[in-house]
Amino acid sequence: MAKTEKSWEKRLAGEPDELTVDFVESLSVDKRLYKYDIVGSVAHAQMLAEQKLISREEFKEIKNGLIEISEDIAAGRFKFEKKYEDIHMTIEAALIERIGETGKKLHTGRSRNDQIATDIRLWMRDEIEILQAKITLLQKAFVKLAGKYSESIMPGYTHLQRAQPVVIASYLLSFTEQLERDFIRLKNCSDLLNISPLGSGAIAGTTLPLDRKSTANQLGFSDISYNSIDVVGDRDFCAEFIFDCALIATHLSRWAEDWIIYSSNEFGFVQIDDAYCTSSSIMPQKRNPDLLELIRAKTGRVYGSLVAMLTILKAQPSGYNRDMQEDKVHIFAASDTVETCMDVACAIVLHTKFDTARISSGIDEGFLDATALADYLVGKGVAFREAHGVVGALVADCEKQNKKLAELGLEELQKHSAAIETDVYDNIGAVNVAKKYITEGAAGPKQAQRQIEYWNKQLGQR
Ligand code: ARG
Repeated sequence: MAKTEKSWEKRLAGEPDELTVDFVESLSVDKRLYKYDIVGSVAHAQMLAEQKLISREEFKEIKNGLIEISEDIAAGRFKFEKKYEDIHMTIEAALIERIGETGKKLHTGRSRNDQIATDIRLWMRDEIEILQAKITLLQKAFVKLAGKYSESIMPGYTHLQRAQPVVIASYLLSFTEQLERDFIRLKNCSDLLNISPLGSGAIAGTTLPLDRKSTANQLGFSDISYNSIDVVGDRDFCAEFIFDCALIATHLSRWAEDWIIYSSNEFGFVQIDDAYCTSSSIMPQKRNPDLLELIRAKTGRVYGSLVAMLTILKAQPSGYNRDMQEDKVHIFAASDTVETCMDVACAIVLHTKFDTARISSGIDEGFLDATALADYLVGKGVAFREAHGVVGALVADCEKQNKKLAELGLEELQKHSAAIETDVYDNIGAVNVAKKYITEGAAGPKQAQRQIEYWNKQLGQR
């Protein structure tokens, strides 16, 4: 059995303080990178063999040893010891223990600095695919629900005040749009991070004849990095990744806020399924949207991770510093949080019903048709500013009489503008108005139908 003490034991005198061991270890966090660490090491060892820095036999020994370690970790048979600090030292020590002297050759021409920069990239590439798959599921859930409400009208709000009528489908598809941008942002992040740091060593590269393109190809990177000092100290992609997670969280939080409001007694627009509600320990009548509230609140964690990540980076001198080790806490926390929130959101969306009867019963409250009436006047040749004034006065009149615009008689309407004719009644009333939207992307039933078709096709290919 080869000795497996830490490789710097000959440099530092005596045993480290227990406090030191506990404080510097990252194994408890980075052990979840083990697969990527091993894949990276196999590629590195293969390249060492190609370059004749180790023999073919040695490569096979190393590869088999690493695969065995990987299987043991996956099966929960592996004993992690924090004295090895991190996943890199843990695996290397285990390899040396298993295959002996040959194991000591694995780290040839490599530093943990280029190793961790590689591991995180490999992990993040996969994690981005997981996040994108979850985004797609959630987008599909919104599209499915939209399909049930492609004709039903609800109030559209600005400033949380009734603004204009919209179809429920358009409202729901607004989240599909937001999530699409989140999807694309993650793709951009993945494209940008997809370069291989291996061969950059601790900071300066190496005097050994490594073939950087070989490891890059084996690991599916699209290129190698071109500045060793930069790449060992670069965590831009971690900040960017967390930012992308933070925006997903923001979008989920705004949606959650909507449905918390919409499920209240005052609104009564949506009914969140009982399976996704909780009750109160004292008030027997309660049906609380706690899951939505927690989605809203967990956004804070993700923002916290983003601020932490940026702060970790901001004052570091060039090259690698141990500060970097703290990156993983935050990339993991951000993606874990967003993953669960998306799972929960998807389940809620798929099981929610809109109370269309209740929404319709109040749909003519709040003068949702006022803007359309002004547009009608524009169609009759009235300048928009003037039309705006006419409708403003009509609304004020209606409020005094406790009436809706459509309840005013033609003469009453004509008192405010001679341009008004009998066809006005086809142009007011929330349901009529929604049907009249003609601009691309508008919130009417025709456009919603087109958007549903578009998304079904688009998302069907994912
Ligand atoms: N655990 C470290 C990290 O996550 C690995 C690199 C340590 N390198 C070093 N020179 N101390 O960043």
